[in-house]
Amino acid sequence: MKHTLAIIKPDAVAAGRAGAVLAHLEEAGFRIRALRMTRLNPDQAEAFYAVHRERPFFQSLVSFMTSGPVVPMVLEAENAVPRLREVIGATDPAEAAEGTIRALYAESKERNAIHASDSDENARTEIAFFFSRAELLAL
Ligand code: CMP
Repeated sequence: MKHTLAIIKPDAVAAGRAGAVLAHLEEAGFRIRALRMTRLNPDQAEAFYAVHRERPFFQSLVSFMTSGPVVPMVLEAENAVPRLREVIGATDPAEAAEGTIRALYAESKERNAIHASDSDENARTEIAFFFSRAELLAL
């Protein structure tokens, strides 16, 4: 699968790092195939993170993800899903490998700068959550 979904999260957008993150992704070999800036409402954030509904951090995550604008995008590369997860690094920036986006720009386990789909199946679902088929076909 050549496509995956990334979201530049509110912490990185608010810190003025959206451009740096996009540059990092392009330099890592991804093509940006679709992109927008939007602000999630609580219903949207809860739906997007529904798999985490039972986790103790769920409400805090929803509150963070609705705290400001985010930049969802579709990225293209060979083996896009595992490749992007390598480039962004571990969830916790303290554990993220040197030079990864989270090592460079994340503040904490929650405020961790960027989201990436964790499987091809989730990439399909998450791309469809933000981008219509008509939009993707128009590019
Ligand atoms: P993400 O890759 O978007 O997927 C789920 C998100 O939940 C994760 O990045 C973090 O922002 C957040 N998260 C995961 N684990 C924790 C945790 N232990 N405490 C707080 N937030 C977390």
